[in-house]
Amino acid sequence: MKLTAENNDNQSTMATTEDVFKKLIAHAKEYGFIFPSSDIYDGLGAVYDYGQNGVELKNNIKKYWWDSMVLLHENIVGIDSAIFMHPTIWKASGHVDAFNDPMIDNKDSKKRYRADVLLEEHIQKLEEKISKEVEKAAKRFGDQFDEGMFLQTNPRVLEVREQVASVQNRMNEALKTDNLQALKTLIEDCGIVCPISGTRNWTDVRQFNLMFSTEMGSTAEGAMKVYLRPETAQGIFVNYLNVQKTGRMKIPFGIAQIGKAFRNEIVARQFIFRMREFEQMEMQFFVAPGTELEWYELWKNTRLKWHQALGMGQENYRFHKHEKLAHYANAASDIEFRFPFGFREVEGIHSRTNFDLSQHQEYSGKKIQYFDPEVNQSYVPFVVETSIGVDRMFLSILAHSFTEEKITREDGTTDERVVMRIPPQLAPVKLAVLPLVKKDGLAEKALEIKNQLRFEFNCQYDEKDSIGRRYRRQDAIGTPYCITIDHQTMTDETVTIRYRDTMEQERVQIKDLQAIISDKVSIRGLLQKIVS
Ligand code: GAP
Repeated sequence: MKLTAENNDNQSTMATTEDVFKKLIAHAKEYGFIFPSSDIYDGLGAVYDYGQNGVELKNNIKKYWWDSMVLLHENIVGIDSAIFMHPTIWKASGHVDAFNDPMIDNKDSKKRYRADVLLEEHIQKLEEKISKEVEKAAKRFGDQFDEGMFLQTNPRVLEVREQVASVQNRMNEALKTDNLQALKTLIEDCGIVCPISGTRNWTDVRQFNLMFSTEMGSTAEGAMKVYLRPETAQGIFVNYLNVQKTGRMKIPFGIAQIGKAFRNEIVARQFIFRMREFEQMEMQFFVAPGTELEWYELWKNTRLKWHQALGMGQENYRFHKHEKLAHYANAASDIEFRFPFGFREVEGIHSRTNFDLSQHQEYSGKKIQYFDPEVNQSYVPFVVETSIGVDRMFLSILAHSFTEEKITREDGTTDERVVMRIPPQLAPVKLAVLPLVKKDGLAEKALEIKNQLRFEFNCQYDEKDSIGRRYRRQDAIGTPYCITIDHQTMTDETVTIRYRDTMEQERVQIKDLQAIISDKVSIRGLLQKIVS
């Protein structure tokens, strides 16, 4: 039966972004992607576990990143450093003194907020006011409406735009100069109230260090305060000499690492967007002084290409250049993705100068230098870093893939489905093998096919419920291909293959299945796109 699918995107504009996001979170739990950590104890703030489908998707993201770094670049190698490191590392890197967020408490609700986030939310509300004015005017003027002209001339819009610019400028200036009093004054001037108590009874703004610490050692006296690393990068910096020497690496070269990082985030929200325990994929690229900005531009473009190869829409990515640079950087940009709650950072590309290596040289007393035979000189290498959060990347894929569709059958009857349009190369399960019925040897034949293909792809066998319900279950976890074994299979060695996105089906030979599927689901295809 022919089915046509209509994406519910437009209809869902009536539902708020928040509603859609809530549905996505519920779907992620129901289908084994993400569970709240310690769920049976009612969860733990901003900590999550990955379920049976989530871990597959996560592993595929990591493999795509790792292969794009280590397989595609002869001069990039990987490491896996420990989470615990010598505490002086965090003093040298500046994290003990400067890895802070400005926080403010409401005296009535006793709730704590990030001062900059309160201001960003205020700006967002002002921007929503502008959108509402546009919407109203579009309704009033119909086809005659010229949005560009309206935005440039409408007095109400101009007034709100001026407010946005003023708040943004004052906030940037206060953050740049670490002026905490100016941040508090701005919050008061904007009339921001606590969402819980509804009052403006604020404390002063204070700095709050984001690192978790614990004690290492068996006795209280002998114990040493150690930190759970807030970034994986320092594990690479302190192994620079080890890798450069043992790998006989020549500059320019890179070291890649995937691993957990921990931050005691004050505002931990938006599901897995901002977590307290998360995973990073970082690559430090060591270059000659003076060449770093060229490499920085190159890595910005290379990384954007990596994202865009996934086919989630070029228009959903943009660069955001940092105005306020971290203490170690001389240039920095984010790659932002359009999440349901707006464009937000998924990855940072930072030109970190020689700050970290110089600091470790000074604090450790070990010479960290590279003798460059090209210029016959020794120097502390400069570093360009690419740093992406696995979980944030995961969320971008989940959010982009989640689609509610209305289906109209040929006979006019309708149905609905939720389909996860996950890029096939990253999908948790690549292929579902489904016998039409259990009897007449169909189940055995299906298992035989699955057992052949399981060496190539993650395959699932399912014989429960009607075939329609089984298709829906696979759509809901994003399986790109379902093959159905029917009575004809038993006579001519053919099966039907159903495509997730179009729901179209065609009859193919069993012997061709591997070639048809592997072409579409292999990470090799993505890697080839990056280098083309
Ligand atoms: N070594 C540089 C560094 O850590 P960052 O911008 O603080 O830079 C890099 O973090 C990436 O790590 C971000 O782009 C984001 O994807 C991810 N990330 C940072 N904090 C996170 C958090 N609390 N939860 C989830 N992902 C986070």
